[in-house]
Amino acid sequence: MITASAPGKVILFGEHAVVFGRAALAVPVTQLQARVTVSENSRGGIWIEAPNINLSSDIEQLPPDHPLARVVYSVFTALGKSHPPACTIYIQSTIPVASGLGSGAAVSVAILRALSAYLGQPLPDEQVNTLAFEAEKLHHGTPSGIDNTVITYIKPVYFIKGRPVKTFHVGAPFTIVIGDTGISAPTKESVRSVRKLWESDKPRWEKVFDRVGNIAWDARQAIERGDLTDLGSLMNANHVLLQRLTVSCPELDRLVEAACKSGAFGAKLSGGGRGGNMITLVRKENAPAMAEALKSAGAKRTTVTQVE
Ligand code: PMV
Repeated sequence: MITASAPGKVILFGEHAVVFGRAALAVPVTQLQARVTVSENSRGGIWIEAPNINLSSDIEQLPPDHPLARVVYSVFTALGKSHPPACTIYIQSTIPVASGLGSGAAVSVAILRALSAYLGQPLPDEQVNTLAFEAEKLHHGTPSGIDNTVITYIKPVYFIKGRPVKTFHVGAPFTIVIGDTGISAPTKESVRSVRKLWESDKPRWEKVFDRVGNIAWDARQAIERGDLTDLGSLMNANHVLLQRLTVSCPELDRLVEAACKSGAFGAKLSGGGRGGNMITLVRKENAPAMAEALKSAGAKRTTVTQVE
Protein backbone atom coordinates (compact mmCIF):
# COMPACT_ATOMS: atom_id res chain seq x y z
CA MET A 1 0.00 0.00 0.00
CA ILE A 2 1.40 3.42 -0.98
CA THR A 3 0.15 6.89 0.01
CA ALA A 4 1.10 10.27 -1.46
CA SER A 5 -0.16 13.76 -0.66
CA ALA A 6 -0.17 17.12 -2.40
CA PRO A 7 -1.04 20.54 -0.97
CA GLY A 8 -3.54 23.18 -2.06
CA LYS A 9 -2.32 26.54 -3.32
CA VAL A 10 -3.28 30.18 -3.55
CA ILE A 11 -2.43 32.57 -6.31
CA LEU A 12 -1.13 35.74 -4.65
CA PHE A 13 -0.97 37.84 -7.83
CA GLY A 14 -1.50 37.60 -11.56
CA GLU A 15 -4.33 35.11 -12.17
CA HIS A 16 -5.92 35.27 -15.62
CA ALA A 17 -3.19 37.56 -17.04
CA VAL A 18 -0.85 34.57 -16.50
CA VAL A 19 -2.82 32.65 -19.15
CA PHE A 20 -1.74 35.43 -21.57
CA GLY A 21 1.96 35.15 -20.75
CA ARG A 22 2.26 37.61 -17.85
CA ALA A 23 3.95 36.86 -14.52
CA ALA A 24 2.07 35.47 -11.51
CA LEU A 25 2.97 34.50 -7.94
CA ALA A 26 1.57 31.49 -6.13
CA VAL A 27 2.33 29.68 -2.88
CA PRO A 28 1.44 26.23 -1.54
CA VAL A 29 -1.13 25.93 1.27
CA THR A 30 -0.05 22.88 3.23
CA GLN A 31 -2.99 23.00 5.67
CA LEU A 32 -5.12 21.74 2.77
CA GLN A 33 -4.17 18.38 1.30
CA ALA A 34 -5.19 15.83 -1.29
CA ARG A 35 -4.18 12.32 -0.24
CA VAL A 36 -4.16 9.24 -2.45
CA THR A 37 -3.65 5.66 -1.32
CA VAL A 38 -3.10 2.84 -3.79
CA SER A 39 -3.60 -0.70 -2.52
CA GLU A 40 -4.00 -4.19 -3.86
CA ASN A 41 -7.51 -5.41 -4.54
CA SER A 42 -8.79 -8.93 -4.91
CA ARG A 43 -11.90 -8.19 -6.99
CA GLY A 44 -9.79 -7.37 -10.10
CA GLY A 45 -9.65 -4.25 -12.24
CA ILE A 46 -8.59 -0.72 -11.37
CA TRP A 47 -11.02 0.84 -8.87
CA ILE A 48 -11.28 4.53 -8.15
CA GLU A 49 -12.84 5.50 -4.82
CA ALA A 50 -13.37 9.21 -4.19
CA PRO A 51 -15.91 9.60 -1.38
CA ASN A 52 -15.73 13.45 -1.52
CA ILE A 53 -17.38 13.35 -4.93
CA ASN A 54 -19.43 10.17 -4.32
CA LEU A 55 -17.42 8.17 -6.81
CA SER A 56 -16.76 4.46 -6.53
CA SER A 57 -16.21 2.83 -9.88
CA ASP A 58 -14.19 0.45 -11.97
CA ILE A 59 -12.12 2.70 -14.23
CA GLU A 60 -13.59 0.96 -17.27
CA GLN A 61 -17.07 2.20 -16.34
CA LEU A 62 -15.91 5.84 -16.42
CA PRO A 63 -15.96 7.88 -19.64
CA PRO A 64 -12.43 7.83 -21.14
CA ASP A 65 -12.16 11.64 -20.78
CA HIS A 66 -13.01 11.54 -17.05
CA PRO A 67 -10.22 13.65 -15.44
CA LEU A 68 -9.36 11.04 -12.78
CA ALA A 69 -9.34 8.19 -15.31
CA ARG A 70 -7.14 10.24 -17.64
CA VAL A 71 -4.55 10.84 -14.92
CA VAL A 72 -4.47 7.13 -14.06
CA TYR A 73 -4.10 6.12 -17.72
CA SER A 74 -1.33 8.71 -18.16
CA VAL A 75 0.70 6.91 -15.46
CA PHE A 76 0.24 3.53 -17.17
CA THR A 77 1.29 5.03 -20.51
CA ALA A 78 4.31 6.87 -19.03
CA LEU A 79 5.52 3.64 -17.36
CA GLY A 80 4.71 1.40 -20.35
CA LYS A 81 2.25 -0.72 -18.31
CA SER A 82 -0.15 -2.22 -20.82
CA HIS A 83 -1.42 -4.76 -18.23
CA PRO A 84 -1.39 -2.91 -14.90
CA PRO A 85 -2.07 -4.96 -11.76
CA ALA A 86 -5.49 -4.82 -10.06
CA CYS A 87 -5.57 -2.06 -7.48
CA THR A 88 -7.78 0.43 -5.67
CA ILE A 89 -6.97 4.13 -5.88
CA TYR A 90 -8.51 5.85 -2.86
CA ILE A 91 -8.72 9.66 -3.10
CA GLN A 92 -9.43 11.98 -0.17
CA SER A 93 -9.09 15.74 -0.12
CA THR A 94 -9.62 18.62 2.27
CA ILE A 95 -9.26 21.11 -0.60
CA PRO A 96 -12.65 22.49 -1.62
CA VAL A 97 -13.50 21.71 -5.26
CA ALA A 98 -13.85 24.49 -7.89
CA SER A 99 -12.87 27.26 -5.52
CA GLY A 100 -9.45 28.44 -6.72
CA LEU A 101 -7.38 26.42 -4.25
CA GLY A 102 -5.90 23.96 -6.71
CA SER A 103 -7.97 20.90 -5.83
CA GLY A 104 -7.82 19.40 -9.35
CA ALA A 105 -4.06 19.79 -9.67
CA ALA A 106 -3.43 18.48 -6.14
CA VAL A 107 -5.47 15.33 -6.77
CA SER A 108 -3.64 14.78 -10.07
CA VAL A 109 -0.20 15.19 -8.47
CA ALA A 110 -1.08 12.87 -5.58
CA ILE A 111 -2.39 10.18 -7.98
CA LEU A 112 0.70 10.47 -10.23
CA ARG A 113 3.03 10.07 -7.24
CA ALA A 114 1.15 7.32 -5.40
CA LEU A 115 0.39 5.19 -8.44
CA SER A 116 3.86 5.42 -10.00
CA ALA A 117 5.43 4.51 -6.62
CA TYR A 118 2.98 1.61 -6.25
CA LEU A 119 4.10 0.34 -9.65
CA GLY A 120 7.72 0.53 -8.47
CA GLN A 121 8.77 3.41 -10.75
CA PRO A 122 8.19 6.74 -8.92
CA LEU A 123 7.96 9.54 -11.46
CA PRO A 124 10.42 12.45 -11.09
CA ASP A 125 8.97 15.91 -10.27
CA GLU A 126 9.43 17.20 -13.80
CA GLN A 127 7.33 14.40 -15.27
CA VAL A 128 4.71 14.70 -12.50
CA ASN A 129 4.45 18.40 -13.40
CA THR A 130 4.10 17.69 -17.14
CA LEU A 131 1.43 15.02 -16.69
CA ALA A 132 -0.49 17.12 -14.13
CA PHE A 133 -0.47 19.97 -16.66
CA GLU A 134 -2.11 17.66 -19.23
CA ALA A 135 -4.84 16.88 -16.68
CA GLU A 136 -5.27 20.60 -15.96
CA LYS A 137 -6.37 21.06 -19.57
CA LEU A 138 -9.46 19.00 -18.74
CA HIS A 139 -10.24 21.25 -15.75
CA HIS A 140 -9.25 24.62 -17.20
CA GLY A 141 -9.41 24.44 -20.99
CA THR A 142 -6.32 26.59 -21.61
CA PRO A 143 -4.41 26.53 -18.32
CA SER A 144 -1.24 28.50 -17.72
CA GLY A 145 0.32 25.63 -15.73
CA ILE A 146 0.77 27.64 -12.52
CA ASP A 147 -1.37 25.33 -10.34
CA ASN A 148 0.41 22.08 -11.21
CA THR A 149 3.81 23.82 -10.90
CA VAL A 150 3.36 25.24 -7.39
CA ILE A 151 1.69 22.03 -6.19
CA THR A 152 4.35 19.73 -7.66
CA TYR A 153 7.32 21.67 -6.28
CA ILE A 154 5.64 22.85 -3.00
CA LYS A 155 7.51 26.17 -3.10
CA PRO A 156 6.57 29.81 -3.66
CA VAL A 157 6.61 30.22 -7.44
CA TYR A 158 7.19 33.21 -9.70
CA PHE A 159 5.60 31.84 -12.82
CA ILE A 160 5.66 32.81 -16.46
CA LYS A 161 4.05 30.32 -18.86
CA GLY A 162 6.58 28.29 -20.82
CA ARG A 163 9.60 29.53 -18.82
CA PRO A 164 11.67 27.47 -16.35
CA VAL A 165 10.18 27.39 -12.84
CA LYS A 166 11.50 30.11 -10.52
CA THR A 167 11.01 30.29 -6.81
CA PHE A 168 11.36 33.53 -4.86
CA HIS A 169 12.79 34.58 -1.54
CA VAL A 170 10.40 35.60 1.25
CA GLY A 171 12.15 38.48 3.07
CA ALA A 172 9.89 38.28 6.12
CA PRO A 173 7.22 35.61 6.71
CA PHE A 174 3.70 36.93 6.21
CA THR A 175 0.19 35.77 7.03
CA ILE A 176 -2.70 35.30 4.65
CA VAL A 177 -6.30 34.64 5.64
CA ILE A 178 -8.24 32.85 2.92
CA GLY A 179 -12.00 33.44 2.83
CA ASP A 180 -14.28 31.09 0.91
CA THR A 181 -17.50 32.49 -0.60
CA GLY A 182 -18.83 28.91 -0.70
CA ILE A 183 -19.77 29.51 -4.33
CA SER A 184 -18.45 26.81 -6.60
CA ALA A 185 -17.12 28.41 -9.78
CA PRO A 186 -15.47 26.38 -12.53
CA THR A 187 -12.23 28.06 -13.61
CA LYS A 188 -12.81 26.86 -17.17
CA GLU A 189 -15.75 29.27 -17.52
CA SER A 190 -14.05 32.35 -16.12
CA VAL A 191 -10.95 31.64 -18.24
CA ARG A 192 -13.20 31.28 -21.29
CA SER A 193 -14.98 34.57 -20.65
CA VAL A 194 -11.71 36.48 -20.15
CA ARG A 195 -10.58 35.08 -23.50
CA LYS A 196 -13.79 36.36 -25.10
CA LEU A 197 -13.20 39.83 -23.64
CA TRP A 198 -9.65 39.78 -25.00
CA GLU A 199 -10.86 38.71 -28.44
CA SER A 200 -13.35 41.61 -28.47
CA ASP A 201 -10.60 44.25 -28.08
CA LYS A 202 -7.08 42.84 -27.90
CA PRO A 203 -5.10 46.13 -27.52
CA ARG A 204 -7.29 47.22 -24.59
CA TRP A 205 -7.06 43.95 -22.65
CA GLU A 206 -3.36 43.44 -23.43
CA LYS A 207 -2.77 46.72 -21.55
CA VAL A 208 -4.73 45.42 -18.58
CA PHE A 209 -2.70 42.17 -18.63
CA ASP A 210 0.51 44.25 -18.75
CA ARG A 211 -0.57 46.13 -15.65
CA VAL A 212 -1.35 42.87 -13.84
CA GLY A 213 2.06 41.46 -14.86
CA ASN A 214 3.80 44.59 -13.55
CA ILE A 215 1.94 44.26 -10.26
CA ALA A 216 3.14 40.65 -9.93
CA TRP A 217 6.71 41.78 -10.57
CA ASP A 218 6.44 44.63 -8.02
CA ALA A 219 4.85 42.24 -5.53
CA ARG A 220 7.78 39.86 -5.83
CA GLN A 221 10.15 42.73 -4.93
CA ALA A 222 7.90 43.75 -2.00
CA ILE A 223 7.90 40.15 -0.71
CA GLU A 224 11.68 39.96 -1.00
CA ARG A 225 11.99 43.25 0.95
CA GLY A 226 9.37 42.11 3.49
CA ASP A 227 7.30 45.27 2.80
CA LEU A 228 3.75 44.37 3.82
CA THR A 229 2.33 47.85 3.26
CA ASP A 230 3.37 47.87 -0.39
CA LEU A 231 2.29 44.27 -0.79
CA GLY A 232 -1.20 45.09 0.52
CA SER A 233 -1.61 48.05 -1.84
CA LEU A 234 -0.56 45.85 -4.76
CA MET A 235 -3.24 43.30 -3.77
CA ASN A 236 -5.89 46.00 -3.83
CA ALA A 237 -4.70 47.23 -7.22
CA ASN A 238 -4.74 43.67 -8.60
CA HIS A 239 -8.30 43.17 -7.33
CA VAL A 240 -9.51 46.28 -9.19
CA LEU A 241 -8.05 44.93 -12.43
CA LEU A 242 -9.69 41.53 -11.81
CA GLN A 243 -13.01 43.33 -11.34
CA ARG A 244 -12.41 45.00 -14.68
CA LEU A 245 -11.79 41.57 -16.21
CA THR A 246 -15.30 40.69 -14.90
CA VAL A 247 -14.11 37.78 -12.76
CA SER A 248 -15.11 39.16 -9.37
CA CYS A 249 -18.67 38.93 -8.01
CA PRO A 250 -20.65 40.70 -5.25
CA GLU A 251 -19.80 38.02 -2.66
CA LEU A 252 -16.05 38.29 -3.34
CA ASP A 253 -16.21 42.09 -3.35
CA ARG A 254 -18.04 42.03 -0.01
CA LEU A 255 -15.30 39.90 1.58
CA VAL A 256 -12.53 42.06 0.10
CA GLU A 257 -14.22 45.22 1.39
CA ALA A 258 -14.79 43.70 4.84
CA ALA A 259 -11.10 42.73 5.02
CA CYS A 260 -9.95 46.25 4.13
CA LYS A 261 -12.35 47.78 6.69
CA SER A 262 -11.04 45.39 9.34
CA GLY A 263 -7.46 46.59 9.05
CA ALA A 264 -5.95 44.31 6.41
CA PHE A 265 -2.91 45.50 4.46
CA GLY A 266 -4.83 44.53 1.34
CA ALA A 267 -7.12 41.91 -0.18
CA LYS A 268 -8.08 40.42 -3.51
CA LEU A 269 -9.88 37.50 -5.07
CA SER A 270 -7.64 34.50 -5.73
CA GLY A 271 -7.84 32.01 -8.59
CA GLY A 272 -10.47 31.81 -11.27
CA GLY A 273 -12.96 34.10 -9.46
CA ARG A 274 -16.77 34.48 -9.84
CA GLY A 275 -16.94 32.66 -6.50
CA GLY A 276 -14.35 30.53 -4.78
CA ASN A 277 -11.84 32.27 -2.55
CA MET A 278 -10.32 35.61 -1.68
CA ILE A 279 -7.12 36.30 0.24
CA THR A 280 -6.18 39.03 2.65
CA LEU A 281 -2.81 40.05 4.07
CA VAL A 282 -2.74 40.64 7.84
CA ARG A 283 -0.41 40.78 10.81
CA LYS A 284 -0.11 37.28 12.29
CA GLU A 285 -1.72 38.32 15.59
CA ASN A 286 -4.74 39.76 13.73
CA ALA A 287 -5.49 36.58 11.77
CA PRO A 288 -8.15 35.15 14.16
CA ALA A 289 -10.04 38.50 14.25
CA MET A 290 -9.83 38.75 10.45
CA ALA A 291 -11.20 35.22 10.08
CA GLU A 292 -14.18 36.29 12.25
CA ALA A 293 -14.68 39.51 10.24
CA LEU A 294 -14.74 37.51 7.00
CA LYS A 295 -17.26 35.04 8.46
CA SER A 296 -19.50 37.94 9.49
CA ALA A 297 -19.28 39.24 5.90
CA GLY A 298 -20.45 35.87 4.53
CA ALA A 299 -17.35 33.63 4.29
CA LYS A 300 -18.38 29.98 4.57
CA ARG A 301 -14.95 28.96 5.79
CA THR A 302 -11.58 30.54 6.41
CA THR A 303 -8.03 29.20 6.40
CA VAL A 304 -5.00 30.94 7.85
CA THR A 305 -1.68 30.28 6.18
CA GLN A 306 1.82 31.55 6.80
CA VAL A 307 4.07 32.20 3.78
CA GLU A 308 7.74 31.64 4.62
O1 PMV B 1 -7.42 26.99 -10.37
P1 PMV B 1 -7.73 28.39 -10.06
O2 PMV B 1 -9.17 28.71 -9.96
O3 PMV B 1 -6.88 28.90 -8.93
O4 PMV B 1 -7.30 29.32 -11.31
C1 PMV B 1 -6.09 29.28 -11.92
C2 PMV B 1 -5.66 30.62 -12.35
C3 PMV B 1 -6.06 31.11 -13.71
O5 PMV B 1 -5.07 32.10 -14.03
C4 PMV B 1 -7.43 31.76 -13.67
C5 PMV B 1 -6.05 30.04 -14.78
C6 PMV B 1 -4.68 29.49 -15.10
O6 PMV B 1 -4.63 28.42 -15.73
O7 PMV B 1 -3.66 30.11 -14.79
